Amino acid sequence: MTKPVRIAPSILSADFARLGEEVRAIDAAGADWIHIDVMDGHFVPNITIGPAVVKALRPHTTKPFDVHLMISPVDIYLDAFAEAGADTITVHPEAGPHIHRTIQHIKGLGKRAGVVLNPGTPAKMLDYLIDMVDLVLVMSVNPGFGGQHFIDSQLKKIAAIRKMIEQSGRDIDLEVDGGIDAGTARRAIEAGADALVAGTATFRGGPERYAENIRGLRGG
Ligand code: DX5
Ligand code: ZN
Repeated sequence: MTKPVRIAPSILSADFARLGEEVRAIDAAGADWIHIDVMDGHFVPNITIGPAVVKALRPHTTKPFDVHLMISPVDIYLDAFAEAGADTITVHPEAGPHIHRTIQHIKGLGKRAGVVLNPGTPAKMLDYLIDMVDLVLVMSVNPGFGGQHFIDSQLKKIAAIRKMIEQSGRDIDLEVDGGIDAGTARRAIEAGADALVAGTATFRGGPERYAENIRGLRGG
């Protein structure tokens, strides 16, 4: 059963000089989760923020922190992000040698565990993880940057994963990340997504537009 669509603005598109204020603004504008993109300049060709920044942002909202780790190695940083205030920790199978163990580690920290599939990674990767994850994130762009174009081939993967989730009988969120605007949001929802990450489309036009931007992504 598909849940109401949750919108997770990616603070990658926020004004980094005013990050606390930006998080409060998207909270007030109706964000369901706060999506935090962590990049290391090694697993992906960009560097963003670490646990210290996550911790500094924690007092600015009570909304869940949806932490997307694009770092390798990843295992040695899981405790730090959990302690910093992450609610969901999402990891790429390519970021470590033992994805099952990594998911076990996140669950052991008492956090929701997510697995994220790059555009070239097949849904099959989930076969032996679907019984333990709380969230599946489908990348609809190659990770590293905001403002890229949605890759259409991922719609088929979203639909396939929706079926896997239904068959599992488990309560698993199906989130899509990259190139989400009002049009691609609708198509991702039609394919079976129930959570959407949006950086560019949320922060476009400045704080007075955030509420309207977020409303526009919910698919009516
Ligand atoms: C890309 C990040 C995304 C990014 C999305 O590696 O994972 O979360 O911020 O940005 P937009 O919504 O601008 O495509
Ligand atoms: Zn992301």
